[in-house]
Amino acid sequence: MSVSSSRWLPICKVSDEIAPHGLPCQVEGHEIAVFSVNGRRYATSNICTHQFAYLTDGYVEGEHVDCPMHQGRFHIPTGEPKGGPASEPLRTYPLRVEGDQVLVEISGSAG
Ligand code: FES
Repeated sequence: MSVSSSRWLPICKVSDEIAPHGLPCQVEGHEIAVFSVNGRRYATSNICTHQFAYLTDGYVEGEHVDCPMHQGRFHIPTGEPKGGPASEPLRTYPLRVEGDQVLVEISGSAG
């Protein structure tokens, strides 16, 4: 029997403004960045996969975020690394809207 440990948890309000460099959020130990790209919300891990830096302290340009520490670049919708020194993809999280809440799907362990 397979057991799914995924849950949908509130991460922010629909009305919350998402800054150009993203909105930092914490959900059950997960550091998550919510970005708005072309009017659509995306959630990724807020921590760079290269070393420890918050991506919401970085720069967003179009669909990409640049890490503030060494300017590693990630594609926000997919988490794919697009510029060194970061080579590991960012974890991405599904989002959905329910009423006035934005929910994030959390599965597995914190990270
Ligand atoms: S910590 Fe992000 S590129 Fe180095």
